Amino acid sequence: MTRQTLQIGLAGLGTVGTGVYETLCRNHDLLEARVQMAYNVRKIAVRDLSRPREVEVAPELLTEDWQELVNDPEIDIIIELIGGTKVAYELVKAALKAGKPVVTGNKALLAEYGSELFRISLEKGVPLYFEASCGGGIPIIQSLQNSLICNNVESITGIINGTSNYILSSMEKGGVSYADALAAAQAKGYAEADPTLDINGWDAAHKALILAMLAYGTPLAPDKISVYGIERVTSTDFAFAERLGYTIKLLVVIKHHKEGDRLELRVQPSFVPQSHLLSKVDGVFNAIAVKGDIVGETVFYGRGAGKNPTASAVIGDVVLAMRECRHPEYHTGFLPYTKKMAVMPQEETETPYYVRFLVQDRPGVIAAIASELAKLDIGISATSSTPHDMVDGMPRNNLVFILHSCPWGRLRKALKALRKHEYIERHPAVFRIETFTNN
Ligand code: HSE
Repeated sequence: MTRQTLQIGLAGLGTVGTGVYETLCRNHDLLEARVQMAYNVRKIAVRDLSRPREVEVAPELLTEDWQELVNDPEIDIIIELIGGTKVAYELVKAALKAGKPVVTGNKALLAEYGSELFRISLEKGVPLYFEASCGGGIPIIQSLQNSLICNNVESITGIINGTSNYILSSMEKGGVSYADALAAAQAKGYAEADPTLDINGWDAAHKALILAMLAYGTPLAPDKISVYGIERVTSTDFAFAERLGYTIKLLVVIKHHKEGDRLELRVQPSFVPQSHLLSKVDGVFNAIAVKGDIVGETVFYGRGAGKNPTASAVIGDVVLAMRECRHPEYHTGFLPYTKKMAVMPQEETETPYYVRFLVQDRPGVIAAIASELAKLDIGISATSSTPHDMVDGMPRNNLVFILHSCPWGRLRKALKALRKHEYIERHPAVFRIETFTNN
């Protein structure tokens, strides 16, 4: 016999878990009326019972043993918000095997173990929902799975890490130091428990892998994606970007190349034209542009991190899970991994570039750089420089070259050749310039 009230087990009571629990309580009547089903949070697994909490929870709801959630026959749905990939993996796998639909926001888990977990989910006919894994409160997953289902996805381009976007915006607009901006993002609950994942691009990469796997129905391992973080973005580059009509954003680019049926897959700080919509996305906001062959261009915009926006996405999935419990009509959207798609080697991916060399101010420097570029047929479309400055007791210049589109492998070769000139610093600042065109 079907029980009247659906029982929820919640694993994790950190920032997002707290937001989910608060909202499930605060908007309880609204949700029950809209969904036309009754629910109750029956148990909450936490790491440490003694930890002080932001939210009031009846002590009898709490347990330190996540297995109690999986083994409780009364629990219908499990929400996994503990993060990390060890315990979360065990928990999600065990829950699916026990026939309990799972809602998770754990992008690292899905990027690493998604293929296996979705296979179990398909085999068992038990859904795994993951709206909160990408873009915070933006409903990108359900949009890809449902609203855009008739499209061949040509590209997905976007800003999908709130913390790094908050830091870049603060550096650019508020002149705030990198360290202060990161501390503020942490205080606001945007950053991961390990904020290096936000900074080094891997949080965005995990999300990109999920979006790519979803849109193209192909399993993709984390080693397939090229990832650079925001660590080397400087105020000097922001100043040049502004002067040249750009801003700098940590961008995710997923592009389908029809020729060879291959995917371009990369995450890196890029120059974005000031005229493009994505250049206006500031602070914790995310934006994801999806181009489909039928729909054309779409852009999804909203808060990409934080307690309540992410809780909103989690609860959207909880409602799907509740409906699924009552009316099983299991669907996977684009998911089944029927395709095996190759990822383009980064050396072959092409964009224009911004390259800033710190050089000694002496005759012949520009000629040497132009000559090495010309040898590899790399065209220069613009240059910019600053008056020389004394660095380490020597007069130095910043020389910026805007280069025409060429494969990254070719530019890399030119940059390597330039290392022989001792008056050019060995590691120039290199950024791709995004043109937002499809091949
Ligand atoms: N740390 C993530 C971000 C949280 O800053 O975007 C949302 O996934």
